Amino acid sequence: MAKKKILITWPLPEAVMARARETYDVIAHSGEPKITIDEMLETAKSVDAILLTLNEKCPKEVIDRIPENIKCVSTFSIGFDHIDLEACKARGIKVGNAPHGVTVATAEIAMLLLLGSARRAAEGEKMIRTRSWPGWQPLQLVGQRLDNKKLGIYGFGKIGQALAQRARGFDMEVHYYDIYRAKPEVEAKYNAIYHDSLDSLLSVSEFFSINAPSTPETRYFFNKDVIEKLPQGAIVVNTARGDLVNDEDMIAALKSGRLGYAGLDVFAGEPKIHEGYYDLPNTFLFPHLGSAAVEARNQMGFEALDNIDAFFAGRDMPFKLA
Ligand code: DGY
Repeated sequence: MAKKKILITWPLPEAVMARARETYDVIAHSGEPKITIDEMLETAKSVDAILLTLNEKCPKEVIDRIPENIKCVSTFSIGFDHIDLEACKARGIKVGNAPHGVTVATAEIAMLLLLGSARRAAEGEKMIRTRSWPGWQPLQLVGQRLDNKKLGIYGFGKIGQALAQRARGFDMEVHYYDIYRAKPEVEAKYNAIYHDSLDSLLSVSEFFSINAPSTPETRYFFNKDVIEKLPQGAIVVNTARGDLVNDEDMIAALKSGRLGYAGLDVFAGEPKIHEGYYDLPNTFLFPHLGSAAVEARNQMGFEALDNIDAFFAGRDMPFKLA
């Protein structure tokens, strides 16, 4: 039987590409320059499924242009804010994501941001690289320890819990808020203290980690009013999505000292980030590294392929979104 044809919009890890090629006739975009939406839609006319990434923004206008032959889309990401699922449902297009591979890798980056922000790692690195280190000094780049500090985790899904586990290893006191309260055994496992409102969580969070998905309810929630509810000088880290944060308000609070530090892996409109971040010393900034670990990227690719395999086998996608 002839192999089904799939479009893969970016080069993926070799193990993933090898598995894809074993089963499918693969059209793989080179990534250089990156695929445009028009190119994706044009190529889609000659394939049976699309494996895309969070770079390919698919609002309703794009979904409505997907050719009739495509009934299967799988995204190489846990996040699916780049795809209008309702529009997919209306067109009968099945959609799946890759929800598990990112967990540990993203929690590690959140931990790195917490540590790097608390201990002023970026400022230290800059001092070395700009050849401006005058030598050890008692008051130089003094930060704070993590132990016995209260960490508030907003969004206690798999990544939030994996962060809790790591933070416990650093003797942090873990607090969380989520619209769904975790089971007692999960709270016990991480010694996690539940708050029944975001305000309550904010009031104790000397460190605050954003681990919620981007939805109409969470978008831009981290604004001036929310910042005002945190303890003075709190440290905030974001490994979820940039558009959960109101950048103007965050930057103003970092400038005034209302917030002590921000460790950010994601940005609204990335890779074009708000100009105000570039020269702020009390920031530790990464280019969306959350899942950038070989183990994570392989698993993400396998999960994305599992969805496509299931679709062609006439089964429900294992990581079905629509
Ligand atoms: C995801 O999978 O949504 C992550 O943001 C990728 O790092």
